[in-house]
Amino acid sequence: MNDARLADRKLRQVPQGVGTVTPVTMAKAEGALIWDQDGREYIDFAGGIGVNNIGHRHPKVVAAIKEQADKYLHGCFHVSMYEPYVDLAEKLNALAPCRGEKMTMFANSGAEAVENAVKIARYATGRLGVVCFEGAFHGRTLLTMGLTSKVMPYKYKLGAVALPGIFRAQYPYCYRCPWGLEQSSCGMRCGEHYFESEFFKYHVNPDEVAAILLEPVLGEGGFITPPPEYLGQLRSICDRHGMVLIVDEVQSGIGRTGKMFATEHFGVEPDIVTTGKSLGGGLPLSGITGSASIMNTVHPGGLGGTYGGNPVSCAAGLAVLTAFEQENLLERGAALGAKVRSALEGMQERHPCIGQVRGLGPMLAMELVKSRGRKEPAPELAKKVTAICHQEGLLILDCGTLGNNLRTLMPLVITDEQLERGLSILEKSLDRALEETKA
Ligand SMILES: Cc1ncc(COP(=O)(O)O)c(C=O)c1O
Repeated sequence: MNDARLADRKLRQVPQGVGTVTPVTMAKAEGALIWDQDGREYIDFAGGIGVNNIGHRHPKVVAAIKEQADKYLHGCFHVSMYEPYVDLAEKLNALAPCRGEKMTMFANSGAEAVENAVKIARYATGRLGVVCFEGAFHGRTLLTMGLTSKVMPYKYKLGAVALPGIFRAQYPYCYRCPWGLEQSSCGMRCGEHYFESEFFKYHVNPDEVAAILLEPVLGEGGFITPPPEYLGQLRSICDRHGMVLIVDEVQSGIGRTGKMFATEHFGVEPDIVTTGKSLGGGLPLSGITGSASIMNTVHPGGLGGTYGGNPVSCAAGLAVLTAFEQENLLERGAALGAKVRSALEGMQERHPCIGQVRGLGPMLAMELVKSRGRKEPAPELAKKVTAICHQEGLLILDCGTLGNNLRTLMPLVITDEQLERGLSILEKSLDRALEETKA
């Protein structure tokens, strides 16, 4: 069946609220390639929104799923324990950058991971407040929608206005500094000084705050990357006031930035780290890993869910981590990041509409503007570029509160030839979009 017919059936059978941002259908996928129902090939710079860090249908993941499916599919971890859950918890406990002895529990989605992290932080501190950030995206459940900072399409009329206990701070968006300062001379106005002399005076007293929750690189918010000292300053604030530092690595984790966790770039130990997306290698799985002294406070039965840490998903997750161990994927990711950054910076030299190239490792974005001097966002241009890319055989997504950023989430196993082809489609699509905008 061709794409138009499936799109037509979707419109009649699936509510429009479940949007699809490309017209592409999926019939088969492997590594960094996707084929549609007509056999047309696409290079994947979207990774199913950051899920396919080790590539579509990685052979180790497929084999682990098959092997587990031959044994048992579900028993519910609350009814009978099984090894893949505990094995994967053990692996994540060894890898996560959190303090001291660690513990992990599993859920099904990134939103659930964040919900559980907040529940645990509230329980452990006996406080309700959560400080989150401008530009954040933490999911679409009621709590995480409240923590998310984008009205359309995520929050409007969906009940987010009714959530107490959520306080939103400025994120260090240096390209558009909320205080109008320059990074070279700002003295980290967004860090401890902002919280101690302003935020905790105007918004909430620190002794009512359970947690500071942040993405170490904003994902949906535009791949905004804080200055190197920033996370360390949040760590000090949390220590000073007895708050839990929760780092949401659902998009930035599991090798996306060339390290297993983006937090490692900052040399900081959070209390809790959430994972999701690429953890399951394509199956629904999320993790909440944290210091045992915090994770183990909640009474028995207070955490979990029917499917959390499903055995097939955990087997897939173990295969993902084994692939990282055995196939040098972090080194490959770091090298890929350097290549993509240099290509995007090359495009920036040739195109004044690219205001900034930013990110960590291969988690990179370019922010499109109408003019470099005035930095006026160009979301229409970003939309046009992504639409042309989709026509030309490259899947790529925009991001950011205004949608004026193009981001790269290609599998780390992409070949050089596929990468060059994808980058060339991207630049040609940008040229064509600029031509069409002028016309
Ligand atoms: C940083 C971050 N947290 C949480 C989520 C929510 O994940 P899910 O869609 O699996 O609920 C996302 C999804 O994009 C994300 O990027």
